[in-house]
Amino acid sequence: MSLRRILRIDDPEDLKILKTNCRAVKLPNRELKRLITDMFETMHDREGVGLAAPQIGIPIRLTVLGIPAIWEKLEDGTEVEVSSAAEYVLINPRIVKMSSEEIVRQEGCLSLPGWYGDVPRATWVTVEYQDLNGKLRRLRKVDGLLGWAIQHEVDHLNGILFTERIRDLSTLRDLSKELEAEEAAQRQATGAKVQVQA
Ligand code: NI
Repeated sequence: MSLRRILRIDDPEDLKILKTNCRAVKLPNRELKRLITDMFETMHDREGVGLAAPQIGIPIRLTVLGIPAIWEKLEDGTEVEVSSAAEYVLINPRIVKMSSEEIVRQEGCLSLPGWYGDVPRATWVTVEYQDLNGKLRRLRKVDGLLGWAIQHEVDHLNGILFTERIRDLSTLRDLSKELEAEEAAQRQATGAKVQVQA
């Protein structure tokens, strides 16, 4: 396993690769397992919820997602897990259906660390993809963090960056300083993270 360098939107050479319309993956492919392991390791190291292959310089239609568990505090103070952590590997993903309704949320990207902006996305999507064996699979009407992250990652595979989805560019801001302070406080209180990058 090894950590990979994540390409940056604000580096002109990196940007050329990030703007590539990625090529389809031919399956089965024995090399992919190691690459996927590295992608998960790199994503977790940077505390992201998703990472697309072009973000580490490989312009192929492959993305990994890691959605953390959600905990809620009950009235008596005990904490309960309301949804468990889940990891996904999507190969050649295609969004086949999406809601007409949109939701705007603050979005960030591991290729522009610290920066966040308000991005409108479909409230849910249905995505078709292949697993490592080449079997066609489908996730239906995915909403919430996973639904959002899938749209962000499929955009990466098409060479579209979250900054291009922002309608009001005045919302795009460098929050790294504020987040450092906030996160330290928040983590002690809830262990949760509000802002996410992918
Ligand atoms: Ni991203």
